[in-house]
Amino acid sequence: MRIIAITNQKGGCGKTTTSVNLAASLAANGRKVLLVDIDPQAHATLGLNIKSYFSIYNVLSKITHQKAKLEDIIQNVSPDFDIAPSSIILSTLEQELAGEIGRESRLWDTLNNFKVNYDYILIDCPPNLGILTINAIRAADEVIIPVEASRFSLEGMDQLLSIVNLVRDRLNHIVDTKILVTNFDSRLAHSFKMLEKIKSDFRDRLLSNIIHVNVKLKEAQNQGTHIFNFDKYSRGAKDYYSLSREIITQETSPENTGKTESAPFRKTEPKPIAVLERKMNEILKKELPKLTEVIFSVFAPDAKDVYIAGEFNNWKLEDSNRMLSNNGTWSKKLNLTSGKYRYRFVIDGKWIEDTSNPLREINPYGSVDSLIEIDINK
Ligand SMILES: Nc1ncnc2c1ncn2[C@@H]1O[C@H](COP(=O)(O)OP(=O)(O)OP(=O)(O)O)[C@@H](O)[C@H]1O
Ligand SMILES: [Mg+2]
Repeated sequence: MRIIAITNQKGGCGKTTTSVNLAASLAANGRKVLLVDIDPQAHATLGLNIKSYFSIYNVLSKITHQKAKLEDIIQNVSPDFDIAPSSIILSTLEQELAGEIGRESRLWDTLNNFKVNYDYILIDCPPNLGILTINAIRAADEVIIPVEASRFSLEGMDQLLSIVNLVRDRLNHIVDTKILVTNFDSRLAHSFKMLEKIKSDFRDRLLSNIIHVNVKLKEAQNQGTHIFNFDKYSRGAKDYYSLSREIITQETSPENTGKTESAPFRKTEPKPIAVLERKMNEILKKELPKLTEVIFSVFAPDAKDVYIAGEFNNWKLEDSNRMLSNNGTWSKKLNLTSGKYRYRFVIDGKWIEDTSNPLREINPYGSVDSLIEIDINK
């Protein structure tokens, strides 16, 4: 089994597009593939039209009351292609793991105890270098870093590679790192210049196949499917199919067992554990999602029991989500990170929307959820 994390802290460079379509093309080659979505934005999950109240959060969290096993949350996408879905509540895991020993190995532990046999496990990472990304790198044998040819810069690459080195030095876990050029526009001279620069900077780390700009890839995502279900004759399908062939030809190479070390990007001296621990703490401190206090309230003078339930608390009706009454106005303070959340009030067992909030959306079950959007930078 090969475990490949698709990661780059830069947003929008093609991580999810690559995870989804590489998974689909490996499956089209007869390989059994599981895509694990560990991005709280859940773009892979949503982009494949997967709906589930259980997610990888229920597998990785130790404090959730709705604990699940990885095999319990897996859903089938298409033949030989399964997904372990994500959800916005996964963002709270960063906080939960902040002070825990072994926090970087939670996903690795899960995959080690996982009994279902897949040829490939791909991991779609969030656009940051927080604990979820570190978990992915720690769990993976290989890392693919998508780099956009259109706006390539080395900014941030050092930080990402220092995490790979950190995992190597601290956990003695060797990860083979490859660069994938994405969004290549052959109409622009600029793209070719960038490709040359990437080649000279990364040489043998560069995957030979590149992914061209192809609007069909975006359209497939918007239609809730992968490119082979949407337009298998498109340039995007061809590119990802060729990439999957390149990955498959490396199957017998000892390099991909993750047990032998290929030349690192930068030779670093092994560092004492304390130094590495401090560095990991520094990175985590910077990357931990910032929270903001939000007060929810609803006027229900005759109610006896009121809860706030939403994507931020996994829709759980438990004591921590109970609202308090003051002269008939029930309220509850929650600390939330940036994101868009659906929620409802549950008044004496009845699920109702927040009538004081004009933002709302029909949910997959046909009823209405209220919506709140938090941007901690505002
Ligand atoms: N080769 C491509 N051609 C055209 N559009 C693309 C291509 N690759 C990705 N896109 C589009 O660019 C946007 C960003 O891509 P994607 O979601 O894969 O990036 P990401 O790195 O996963 O983003 P995030 O960092 O937010 O997770 C999406 O709308 C996607 O459909
Ligand atoms: Mg993504």
